[in-house]
Amino acid sequence: MTLERTLILVKPDGVRRGLVGEIIRRIEAKGYQIYALKMMTADRELLTAHYAEHEGKPFFEPLVEFMMSGPIVAIVAEGNRVIEGFRKLAGATDPTVAEPGTIRGDLARDQGTKVVQNLVHGSDSPESALREIGIFFN
Ligand code: RTP
Ligand code: MG
Repeated sequence: MTLERTLILVKPDGVRRGLVGEIIRRIEAKGYQIYALKMMTADRELLTAHYAEHEGKPFFEPLVEFMMSGPIVAIVAEGNRVIEGFRKLAGATDPTVAEPGTIRGDLARDQGTKVVQNLVHGSDSPESALREIGIFFN
């Protein structure tokens, strides 16, 4: 069985720019199901848990500040191989080099900020997905 769930976040830049609908449209157009969805403002404690793997890196504090800078939309999407599939839809982390056709490649660019603003987060493995869904939906 390859039926999976993944955690997707529309980051504060995506909400500010009015791209929530466009991002959800792409997830649904690909054929994945929206299993759960909520808008929220994340606090430091939640983000420190979510980004535990990046604690101590130079971009950690700017990343947390950015992620607290406005509301986000947390989504659980479901489908066969959705974890890998959404990462492909999102494109590369750096929006300057993300392929056109991807969310980051089509809709984001370098803003010259301390941390790269790239519209979306997607879990990178089944273990991460389980852990991250538990953090955002409980
Ligand atoms: P995400 O976790 O958000 O889906 O993105 P990702 O896997 O493509 O990237 P990851 O390495 O997990 O990094 C998490 C987020 O931290 C910011 N970042 N900035 N050098 C930098 O300025 C830098 N490196 C990472 C990005 O917002 C990235 O999405
Ligand atoms: Mg990541």
